[in-house]
Amino acid sequence: MTIDRPMSRRGLVKGGLALGAAATLPTTFAIAQARPIKVGLMLPYSGTFAKLGENIAFAVEMLIAEKGGKLGGRPIELVKLDDESKPENGPQNAERLVKRDAVDVLIGTVHSGVQMGIHKVVRETGTLTIVPNAGANAVTRELCAKNVFRTSFSNWQPAHGMGLALGKRGVKKAAWVTWDYAAGKESGEGFREGLEKHGGKVVQTLTLKFPETNFQPLLAQIPGLDVEVVGSFFAGGGAVQFVKEYKAAGLKVPLCGSGFLTEGTLQAQGEAAEGIETALHYGDGIDSVKNTAFRDAFKAKTQREADVYAVQGYDAAQLLAIGLEAVKGNLEDEAGLYKAMRAAKFDSPRGPVSMSPSQEVVHNIYLRRAEKGLNKVVGIAAEALADPGTGCKL
Ligand code: PHB
Repeated sequence: MTIDRPMSRRGLVKGGLALGAAATLPTTFAIAQARPIKVGLMLPYSGTFAKLGENIAFAVEMLIAEKGGKLGGRPIELVKLDDESKPENGPQNAERLVKRDAVDVLIGTVHSGVQMGIHKVVRETGTLTIVPNAGANAVTRELCAKNVFRTSFSNWQPAHGMGLALGKRGVKKAAWVTWDYAAGKESGEGFREGLEKHGGKVVQTLTLKFPETNFQPLLAQIPGLDVEVVGSFFAGGGAVQFVKEYKAAGLKVPLCGSGFLTEGTLQAQGEAAEGIETALHYGDGIDSVKNTAFRDAFKAKTQREADVYAVQGYDAAQLLAIGLEAVKGNLEDEAGLYKAMRAAKFDSPRGPVSMSPSQEVVHNIYLRRAEKGLNKVVGIAAEALADPGTGCKL
């Protein structure tokens, strides 16, 4: 895809160098290489997704500290900005980081609507961006860009795994309940496509506005629906409340969903979450040296249990490290940097991961069951699942 855009900040730097006297080049280059790389962490540190943003930020810091504070030989300076999961402020916040704070790299964000604002800005400026959560499909589909990578998931992926697992089991009719915004809708599509592959259907979708939590009118409709299961996308504080109210309503239809429904929330959901099946690219009981070390280190740093958000943040920093190590910290070598990141295959706490041609992470989607405060992995819903990347030409 060709994107018409004004000359990037990086391009302007390059242009400036080209105009300067040749004799000053090595010194200028040496100075540029010695300065810290500025990494913007645009995440929600308040609101319903606050804990998600915090865990991502903690894990980014953790990986950088493990590397001695430097990636590719360059010190890393983090610049944090609370995006509050407010899509209306997305473009302006991204511009503040890219233009005012002049970050070299942007890691962000959690909410799909805010991501679209970031995406608009970074497609124009060419800023290297790594998405550590928000699943908005367009980012690695029709609006993909060579400077944008994602280490989390596309909204389609986890819910698709859930739909496949139910379909295989013979489920014919399901409902989908969610917030009415990109993540809820696109997860619903993934769920529907998974079910349909095995002859099942989504017969009803119920929604409410993000981040509202007035679930009662939706729950009241469920007994009247002729469905075998209710699939759902909610996350963070909203997921805690939804799962508790679903249980309190005494509904007989089993609740399931993309794994965010019970991720990082089980303690708060308590008994209400017991037995809920979900699909996600992480879970409890992934028995690997990498995962154990990661979980121990995260706990030691934060006194919190690691969750998928922490994994995604850690992997955003791992991917950046791979790119910067390949070009020895020389951000001007864009071709070398992006090539290394596209080819990256690395060990994540979630298991082995690689990048698809549309620069989306490829990973296993695990089937999990909530049991006594853990999202126990009980199977693999989809192995090495890549987003279709529809419409992406890089
Ligand atoms: C999203 O808006 O893309 C989103 C937010 C929270 C999640 C997952 C996806 O847990």
